[in-house]
Amino acid sequence: MAVSYKDLGLVNTNELFAKAVTGGYAVPAYNFNNMEQLQAIITACVECSSPVILQISKGARQYANQTLLRYMVPGAVAMARELGSKIPIALNLDHGDSFELCKSCIDYGFSTVMIDGSSLPYEGNVELTKKVVEYAHAKDVTVEGELGVLAGIEEHVSSEVTHYTRPEDVQDFVTRTGVDSLAISIGTSHGAYKFKVKPGESVPPLRFDILEECERRLPKFPIVLHGASSVLVKYIDIINRYGGKMENASGVPEDQIRKAVKTNVCKVNIDSDGRLVMTAMIRKYMAENPKEFDPRKYLGPAREELKKMYIAKCELLNSNGKA
Ligand code: G3H
Ligand code: 13P
Ligand code: ZN
Repeated sequence: MAVSYKDLGLVNTNELFAKAVTGGYAVPAYNFNNMEQLQAIITACVECSSPVILQISKGARQYANQTLLRYMVPGAVAMARELGSKIPIALNLDHGDSFELCKSCIDYGFSTVMIDGSSLPYEGNVELTKKVVEYAHAKDVTVEGELGVLAGIEEHVSSEVTHYTRPEDVQDFVTRTGVDSLAISIGTSHGAYKFKVKPGESVPPLRFDILEECERRLPKFPIVLHGASSVLVKYIDIINRYGGKMENASGVPEDQIRKAVKTNVCKVNIDSDGRLVMTAMIRKYMAENPKEFDPRKYLGPAREELKKMYIAKCELLNSNGKA
């Protein structure tokens, strides 16, 4: 049976983005697939009083079971309230690839969905996005669209090269589809290998010129930055020290993120940094405690470190204290 996100204690992104766009900060959008990640995200955002967008990808839905996830989210909202916090919490479908998937998530209680038609020809992207917007808006659910393709793997599409967003398209796309926010491609990519650089080499700067041009054509319109993990060296080092092999991993430098959140970028997507923290802490624990076999013993410290990382991330996005 269909449920409205409003009955689950969630909010859509309208007010979150209206405040972020004028407040010089971005709302964090953190992906999760399991209980420990969800606990870390919520307790971190409660502690630093940050609004938050919980993100579930199609893959996460398959991994964790869509019904179980659907029931975990109101549990997370209740936990935040029990901790005495009123932080706004939104639930987003990350990289929805079809009308049917977006509809299913809306009917399951998601408060916002992304329809990623960026790999389609322009007119196909407009048509698909518009169809999702019509269904979503009738239920007061907000929609994120995408123009331009990030290099690397975008869940269902894989691209060798970046196709930067064409600023000349953004106004037409937003007007014709009615989307509430727009993901653009300015040089980031998904995963832990964002730039082809050797150790010690600096990564190329993001294309702020494209972002500025989009802002000029869409004043005060919420822009979304995907692929925004910094791939923190601290955790890559721990992974490699304890048996991992992640050579030449690289992410978006923190100063670039700090600069981006002062613009109309009001949602920043982080998944890989969370994965790296968990992997690093579990590897370390396993190496140092070879006799342990209780998952709580290694997942607990990983969850603690994850929470610290999310608090630091909220500070970077300047979303702390904005709930
Ligand atoms: O954009 C991709 C997100 O990091 C989700 O990744 O499809 O492996 O869950 P996933
Ligand atoms: P990262 O891989 O940089 O964390 O990006 C995540 C993302 O964009 C999810 O949509
Ligand atoms: Zn993404």
